[in-house]
Amino acid sequence: MARTLLVTSALPYANGSIHLGHMVEHIQTDIWVRYQRMQGHTVYLICADDTHGTPVMLAAEAQGITPEAMIERARAEHMQDFIGFHIAHDLYYSTHTPETRHWACEIYNRLKAAGYITIRPIEQLYDPVKSMFLPDRFIKGECPRCHAKDQYGDNCEACGASYEPTDLINPISVVSGAVPVRKTSEHHFFSLGKCETFLKKWTRSGTIPTEAANKLDEWFKTGLSDWDISRDKPYFGFEIPGAPDKFFYVWLDAPIGYMGTFQKLADERGLSFDDFWKKDSSAELYHFIGKDILYFHSLFWPATLECAGFRTPTQLFVHGFLTVNGQKMSKSRGSFITAGNYLKYLDPEYLRYYYAAKLNAGMDDIDLNLDDFTARVNSDLVGKYVNIASRTAGFISKRFDGQLAKAHSSEAQELVERFYTSAEAIGVLYEAREFGRALREIMVLADAANQFVDGAKPWDIAKDATQDAKLQSVCTSCLELFRLLSLFLKPVLPVLAVKVESFLDIAPLTWQDATEGASLLGHRIKPYQHLITRVDPKQVESLVQASLESLTPEAPGSAAPVVAAASTIAPVSDTIGIDDFSRIDLRVARIVAAEEVPEADKLLKLTLDIGLEQRTVFAGIKSAYTPEELVGRLTVMVANLSPRKMRFGESQGMVLAAGDGTGIYILSPDSGASPGQRIK
Ligand code: MSP
Ligand code: ZN
Repeated sequence: MARTLLVTSALPYANGSIHLGHMVEHIQTDIWVRYQRMQGHTVYLICADDTHGTPVMLAAEAQGITPEAMIERARAEHMQDFIGFHIAHDLYYSTHTPETRHWACEIYNRLKAAGYITIRPIEQLYDPVKSMFLPDRFIKGECPRCHAKDQYGDNCEACGASYEPTDLINPISVVSGAVPVRKTSEHHFFSLGKCETFLKKWTRSGTIPTEAANKLDEWFKTGLSDWDISRDKPYFGFEIPGAPDKFFYVWLDAPIGYMGTFQKLADERGLSFDDFWKKDSSAELYHFIGKDILYFHSLFWPATLECAGFRTPTQLFVHGFLTVNGQKMSKSRGSFITAGNYLKYLDPEYLRYYYAAKLNAGMDDIDLNLDDFTARVNSDLVGKYVNIASRTAGFISKRFDGQLAKAHSSEAQELVERFYTSAEAIGVLYEAREFGRALREIMVLADAANQFVDGAKPWDIAKDATQDAKLQSVCTSCLELFRLLSLFLKPVLPVLAVKVESFLDIAPLTWQDATEGASLLGHRIKPYQHLITRVDPKQVESLVQASLESLTPEAPGSAAPVVAAASTIAPVSDTIGIDDFSRIDLRVARIVAAEEVPEADKLLKLTLDIGLEQRTVFAGIKSAYTPEELVGRLTVMVANLSPRKMRFGESQGMVLAAGDGTGIYILSPDSGASPGQRIK
């Protein structure tokens, strides 16, 4: 039965580059969509840049351009990346468009009319210098639990505590450096709690993976609180109808961007918007997303659609996160690889193949191991797949002027039949997004085809001119097997498939062509063209090198939170004069006593001898040192830091330690130094 599908990938933020993490999702989506199209279904694949919010506004400001100019530039760059990876979008649009504005306002008005919107004041931290409310990520301060410095307003990277930005000790605004003040303003809320019954049912009706539904149960247990959907000006977004200076929070209009983008496509193609979005629509709607945005897509999004009288998604396809060489992508390791950098050094189809080999329908993280990548692509694509054609096609061109035989040998016939009958099982795996298993099946077939070539030895037959008919038949069978492998791999390797179609001189392959009816018997092919080059490990090295070189310090808020989470070496701060430096009184100190602070899981209480006096300092180093290890050691302290009152006593200075979130290393002077000596 012919189906009609509307498919989306999550909308990438406009204030960051597309990287290989994003590409997991876009490649996964594209493979699935191409498979559906090969089945003859009607599929619309849309995506867009997610353009609104404070980070975009501030990033544009830092670049000295308007947000509109910035998002235009980002969209051009993102589109180029996706085209580079052969992502077959019907439309790649933006959320900052009349269409998305229209649907955001329409949905809001419908929710309001149905009684789902409430307005109430809330108190937040406000930057008095920039005259703006500060999102959590734009406030830094000391963790209220472990006292680690320089932590964001929502959670502590050192101890994992989550808290309200108003709980931070000594908070500062990342935007201006000012001390934020508390300020109250009115916010608009969506009453998510009223949708609990609907959501509990919806999330258990085959719409999301079971493991995701289990995760949601935890959220249902803690209760669904109202969702704050408004932000005060200044904000780059859509103004809320009837509420001057209030804007829709970016996550309200982002998923509506799916609708707005489809509206644009419908206008261009003469499709009916309603046929896709009305309540009882027969079109299927699928969203590919990463596990980090499950909450938004499985609760807020279906709830807003349902309450506003629209259809809900048919299914959410949720994937895990990309790691590179087993670790989170990292700029300092050169594994934070942008799509643009990748494309400068390597063929996109290599990565499509590698990701496909690793992907399944689950939410597990997937690892890009760069050595394995090189080995896998070379052995499967070059060694197994392309090899079949490159070892046989030449004989057909040179000896038979491109003409293929009219029949297979009985031995080959059996193998060819096996390929035809495999098409269905492979199709089922693609449909279920079990791409890794699909490729394993296909490679088992490729192995069988290679065994056939090795056994038949066309290069030996070719030496004997009386054996021409046999040579032609063996090579014909091999090319038919190769045609079928190309068909099976086409969702993953679409450009290679086009090259194959052109050299075999056949119409674009569809899934229906996995039959005898479409076979190459009696057909005439064109001369073989080179199809793919081996991955050279040097190219991979150059890519890692280039990724290290493009390591630039980011302006605050210039990266999406997901991106910012990747570990970085902090850029060197602005210069200061010697006068500034000499105001800091650094002293050699001997640790004369050290003890645990039972109420604080990160702190040790140190007694420091600095020659003339003793100081008590609470240091956040418990995870790295035991008290015994420290007693007797020399270290360096800031002796003129103003004392700070803490729950367990006063901290009279600070010990110096190196740390980037992965370890803590206290500093020590060389032997011979004595307590109290000043450090200059
Ligand atoms: N703008 C939101 C999505 C709005 S959808 C209405 C957003 N943008 S994002 O750029 O941070 O992420 C876009 C998609 O890429 C998300 O599905 C996210 O899970 C995915 N990925 C981002 N980094 C990723 C990895 N490192 N690995 C795999 N996918 C990742 O969230
Ligand atoms: Zn902490």
